[in-house]
Amino acid sequence: MTVPSHVGVIGGGRMGAGIAHAFLLAGASVTILERDEAAAAHALAALATTIDASIARGTSEETRDDLVARSASTVDMAELAGSGLVVEAVPEDLALKVQMLTKIEAVVSADAWLASNTSSLSISSIAASLSRPEHFCGLHFFNPVPSSTLVEIVRGERSQPDLIDCAQQWVAAMGKTPVTVNDSPGFASSRLGVAIALEAIRMLQEGVASAEDIDAAMVLGYKHPVGPLRLTDMVGLDVRLGIATYLHSQLGERFEPPALLRQMVADGKLGRKSGEGFYRWDD
Ligand SMILES: NC(=O)c1ccc[n+]([C@@H]2O[C@H](COP(=O)([O-])OP(=O)(O)OC[C@H]3O[C@@H](n4cnc5c(N)ncnc54)[C@H](O)[C@@H]3O)[C@@H](O)[C@H]2O)c1
Repeated sequence: MTVPSHVGVIGGGRMGAGIAHAFLLAGASVTILERDEAAAAHALAALATTIDASIARGTSEETRDDLVARSASTVDMAELAGSGLVVEAVPEDLALKVQMLTKIEAVVSADAWLASNTSSLSISSIAASLSRPEHFCGLHFFNPVPSSTLVEIVRGERSQPDLIDCAQQWVAAMGKTPVTVNDSPGFASSRLGVAIALEAIRMLQEGVASAEDIDAAMVLGYKHPVGPLRLTDMVGLDVRLGIATYLHSQLGERFEPPALLRQMVADGKLGRKSGEGFYRWDD
C-alpha cells in the first residue's frame, strides 16, 4: 500500500508544511492551499527547507529536484481537485475547519478522502457538516512532523472502516506508527499529556517540589524524554490552557485548569516563546 498519488494540504503553516513533507517523502505529489500569495510562497519555501534537511540527513533516496518537482502551493482550491486525499491543517477553529472542508468536498472527486489535523476538536462534529462524513477522519500529526514518529488516527462515528485501514497504511508508508482512537475529547495523546501536565502544575502550586524536581521525577523515574513542566513551556502555556479549558468543559473537574496556569498566562508567561514559563528561556 502506498500513499495516494496526489495529496492536498489546506494550510501550510507549521503543521501543514510538515504534513506535506511527510507525504512527499512517501511518494506523493503535494499541493498546499494557502489563504494568500505571500503565505503560499512562504509554505513552499518552508517545504523546500525541510526537503533540504531530509536530503542532508539522507532520509530520502530521491534527489532534491525530484522532490521539489512534486511540490506546489496555491491559493486556488481548484488545483486540489485531483487529490486522492486532502488533509486540513488550518488554525484550531471549528468554523474555519468546517468552512474549508465543506468547500474542498465540493471540489474533489466523490471517492477522495478527507482528514483533519485538529489536535482537540471533535471529528464527528466536523463530519456532521460534510455530505460524505464516511470519507472523513482525524489524522493527528505531531510537531515537528519530520522527526515525530507518531500519528493518531481518529475514527469518527461515521468514518468508513476502509478509510481507517488506508490511513493506518499511509502512516506506515510514511515511516511513522499509527495509533487508532475513537473520537473523544483530546483523543489519547492530548488527554493523557494534559492530565499529567495539569497535575504537575497543581503540585508546583501546592509547593510539593520545585519545577526541576517534578520534571526529574518523570524523566528519571518514568523515562519521559522531557518533564511535564518543561514540555508545557515548549508547547506554550496558552496552548495548554486552551486545551485544558476545552477538556474541562467536555470531561469534567479533573481537567479544571489550575489557578497557577491561568495566572501565568494572564501575566504573559507563555513558556519558551515569551522567554519565561516554568523555566527561563533567555536564549
Ligand atoms: N503546532 C502544533 O504543535 C500542532 C500539533 C498537532 C496539531 N496541531 C493542529 O494543526 C492545525 C494547524 O496548526 P499549526 O500549528 O500548523 O498552525 P499555523 O498557524 O502554523 O498554520 C495554519 C496555516 O493555515 C493557514 N490558513 C489560515 N486560514 C486559511 C484559509 N482560509 N485557507 C488556507 N490556509 C489558511 C495560515 O496562513 C497558516 O499558514 C491546528 O488545528 C492545530 O491544532 C498543531
